[in-house]
Amino acid sequence: MVWMVACASDEVKKGAIKRQRLDNGDPIGLTRLEDDRVVAFHNQCPHAKGPLTAGKLHGEEIVCPWHFFRFNLATGKAEGTPASIMHLKTYRIDEKDGQILIEP
Ligand code: FES
Repeated sequence: MVWMVACASDEVKKGAIKRQRLDNGDPIGLTRLEDDRVVAFHNQCPHAKGPLTAGKLHGEEIVCPWHFFRFNLATGKAEGTPASIMHLKTYRIDEKDGQILIEP
């Protein structure tokens, strides 16, 4: 398990999405949920690669701006689609010493 520093903790705020590119090239988004957990997700919708960081946040979910599928940011599960095989890639996060660490 290799962790890398994604950014400083105070750069990730509730109700906002921080866009970032990891050292391995993965485009990601980060946000802070109402219960203070930080979540990170791949910035490509699993449906047709829409830019999820341009979507709207609703609690633990994000709504894709292209075709409006919803994804749970904590689990990556597509919501409201029957028996969907779509799954949003999410990343393990740790927050310590004022930094957000991510496992790419
Ligand atoms: S590209 Fe996201 S719902 Fe279609």
